[in-house]
Amino acid sequence: MRIEIARRLLELPRSSFATTIGRIDQLVAAGEDVVNLCQGNPDLPTPPHIVESLRSQALDPANHRYPSFSGLLELKDAVARWYAAHYRVELDPGSEVAILFGAKAGLVEISQCLLNPGDVCLMPDPAFPDYWAGVVLAKAHMHPLPLLRSNGYLPDYSALGPDVCERARLMFLNYPNNPVSATAPLEFYQDTVRFAAEHRVVVASDFAYGALGFDGEVPVSFLQADGAKDVGVEFISLSKMFNMAGWRIGAVVGNPEVIAAINLLQEHYYVSLPPFIQRAAITALTGPQDCVRELTSIYERRRDLFVDGVRQAGWDIDVPRSIFAWLPVPGGDSVAFAEELLERSKVAVAPGRWFGAHGEGFVRVSLLAPEERLREAVARLTDARVPQP
Ligand SMILES: Cc1ncc(COP(=O)(O)O)c(C=O)c1O
Repeated sequence: MRIEIARRLLELPRSSFATTIGRIDQLVAAGEDVVNLCQGNPDLPTPPHIVESLRSQALDPANHRYPSFSGLLELKDAVARWYAAHYRVELDPGSEVAILFGAKAGLVEISQCLLNPGDVCLMPDPAFPDYWAGVVLAKAHMHPLPLLRSNGYLPDYSALGPDVCERARLMFLNYPNNPVSATAPLEFYQDTVRFAAEHRVVVASDFAYGALGFDGEVPVSFLQADGAKDVGVEFISLSKMFNMAGWRIGAVVGNPEVIAAINLLQEHYYVSLPPFIQRAAITALTGPQDCVRELTSIYERRRDLFVDGVRQAGWDIDVPRSIFAWLPVPGGDSVAFAEELLERSKVAVAPGRWFGAHGEGFVRVSLLAPEERLREAVARLTDARVPQP
């Protein structure tokens, strides 16, 4: 029998990363030394006190049973306390916090919760490509919000036509940004709340990198803007904050109606997350935060090393405000540049075009690799003698 897959599934965007990772695996299997700076996968371990918490929670039979449906109230309370301590944002744990299988799951779910077929979703361009799948599943349309260097990589709402504003129901934002590594000031979020309220657009702020502020900067949370909770929600992730990417845990907070919709959808997919993971997440959020500061310093050193190196080699590069460097490519064809760099110099980076049309002309370089590997990458980029932009 020929199995027919539902059309909406066939319409899902394919991950461009899979092909490159396949090629990296081939090269490594053939004995090549590839410096892989393509993905944003933390290379350092989860802090021991969090792992120890998981170990002891896993031994407790109470954590072997089905957990309560929408996540442990103690964890929601820990998320609310984390927001109060870091951003002075007050949240009701019962109605304004939902627990997620990593921020990624929620970032797909929110489109399914809020978009009807034919609606418009305002999508930063470039953007983290995982946002796109939910919009496709909802049969809605994406309208780009170009992120331009000339505008500090912030969208310009005044450039949107009345028809788009009328049909827009959801908007994604992401600061500190992946891939361009920019941050956003509070005034931008105040403008965003005004725009969203005027046009009845729900804001989905992806704050997955919020805890890693470079050079003493504390990245602003969207929820710090007046009235933000009326118009939107914010996603946080423990993946980068505590090197817990493999644990799959995050949260979404803010507007209670959106939170209720996400909980409703999740009730049908899961019976919440494993309780021992949720309890270890409580330890992470409420325990000592020195590990986050130490991680940030490690990333700052890596960033400085990389930026100094490529600048010496002639690249005009902005100082990243997050864990990715956004490197302009000679000739402007990011896919061709990345392919050549991988084949000739054995350095893997992500072409900007994978993140949207406005990503073209750049490649994203992940700083989630030890200093010696970043040094090696700089040396190979310099030796590659590619013509400079
Ligand atoms: C911008 C952005 N948002 C969300 C995520 C996903 O976070 P999580 O691991 O919590 O699913 C990532 C992961 O790379 C990301 O880059």
